[in-house]
Amino acid sequence: MRPEEYSSHNDGEETRRQIMYIDRLKGHVSRLTDEIGRTPKACVVTFGCQMNARDSEKLLGILKSAGYADTEDEKDADLILYNTCSVRDNANQRVYGRLGAIKNLKKENRALKVILCGCMMQEQDCIDKIKTSYSFVDLIFGTHNIFKFAELMCTMIENPGEMTIDIWQETDQIVEELPVERKYSYKSGVNIMFGCNNFCTYCIVPYVRGRERSRAPEDIIDEVRKLAESGVIEVMLLGQNVNSYGRNLDTPISFAELLRRVEKVDGIKRIRFMTSHPKDLSDELIEVCASSDKICRHIHLPVQSGSNALLKAMNRRYTREHYLELVRKIRTAMPDISITTDLIMGFPGETDADVEDTIDLIRQAEFDNAYTFQYSKRTGTPAAGYPDQLSDEAMKDHFDRVLKVVQETARCSCAKHTGETDIALIETVSDHDPGLVTGRLSNNLLVHLPGDESMIGELYPVKLEECRGFYFIGSRTDRSGYTERETL
Ligand code: SAH
Ligand code: SF4
Ligand code: F3S
Repeated sequence: MRPEEYSSHNDGEETRRQIMYIDRLKGHVSRLTDEIGRTPKACVVTFGCQMNARDSEKLLGILKSAGYADTEDEKDADLILYNTCSVRDNANQRVYGRLGAIKNLKKENRALKVILCGCMMQEQDCIDKIKTSYSFVDLIFGTHNIFKFAELMCTMIENPGEMTIDIWQETDQIVEELPVERKYSYKSGVNIMFGCNNFCTYCIVPYVRGRERSRAPEDIIDEVRKLAESGVIEVMLLGQNVNSYGRNLDTPISFAELLRRVEKVDGIKRIRFMTSHPKDLSDELIEVCASSDKICRHIHLPVQSGSNALLKAMNRRYTREHYLELVRKIRTAMPDISITTDLIMGFPGETDADVEDTIDLIRQAEFDNAYTFQYSKRTGTPAAGYPDQLSDEAMKDHFDRVLKVVQETARCSCAKHTGETDIALIETVSDHDPGLVTGRLSNNLLVHLPGDESMIGELYPVKLEECRGFYFIGSRTDRSGYTERETL
């Protein structure tokens, strides 16, 4: 099926087709259940970003509606699905490593189905490698046709012994209203847009995720409303560059306006968003965030480098001065905000002076945290062809120097909150100590405090007692000490 066969963006007809395939898949799963004498289990493994995590919830939603149970143990599974990422080479290598191990599982359980999807599958090299080295894989599809999952599952089951492959190069289709199995009861990601048009010169995402497409605001609000009705109190609006949301809609609307509408949904108490591109961050957005009780005091604003020469070579379309001015504006409007960033070290041509510029920017911006990555050459991106690629030693040296400063800055910024009272959304019981729960503050910091499972999904005022590097040990407190904006 070619994407050109569809004309509209929000395709209700396609939703109906896929629901029909879910029914057909149910028949297959029930026959399998009879054959093996128990409910078959599916293990969905996610690599990569929040977008992939959300896609995995949709894939698991379809599997569960068709009758699969889920498991986190690959050895216990009748179906293993890897939702892959190709942003850096180590993400690809991890998938190949794990596929090697699955080969043995497949020898033990001949009925085991192995499925690959996600960003790696949009790269022809990967498909070629899987065909030659991992020919036991049963189904491969890409990022543009995940809504066809039930249909593709049927094709795979109806054609045993063949590798089913369906990769689209592009789509303008957005298929709504298919089942989703949320990982958390109290929080959820919500896609507001797909794809990316920015073509940063190092980045594979525009090639594997296609052109930018925004969902209609009514569909987003409708989804948020349904999430709230089912108990979700925190939503994370997802897009590669949320600040350019809505520009290509028939009736354009700004991201700030979308936030205003999401804020009005009853029951939603916290709103987050990811990711903001500095070139498109507007004053209107800062105003909306500053005047909101629901929008969290955290902004992830990837800078990538503090060197103007490198920012230009990366095609980021802002300067360090512009970035620092944004940071100043954001902190002036919201003094309690946490600003985090991404940094790429070892981009082609990076000199000592560039590294110093980056270190200087980190100090000036006083980042609350930063994800630091070593540059990874991605086939097909412009930077992969740049002549002045760094040696592994130079790359590691630049990375280590920056990481040291990032860690110092982050520790310092975390420690500043010692003694404060804030509200935490309790997310899990601690892995290390069953007497502790872990909560997330509006500014995204984590706090561990005495508590139990019954607190999960609720907001509690918490006193931040002891800073342990990048997180806090705290305790529950009453509302009297609490001065924050958030309402419980
Ligand atoms: N859309 C987001 C980023 C998505 S990818 C944005 O523009 O900010 C997440 C992060 O991966 C990027 O911010 C970048 O720091 C890193 N990254 C992307 N491509 C990379 C590459 N080729 N090598 C190393 N890091 C990379
Ligand atoms: Fe990649 Fe740049 Fe798009 Fe982010 S904005 S996904 S870094 S191309
Ligand atoms: Fe990776 Fe694809 Fe996300 S490449 S970072 S999973 S968009």
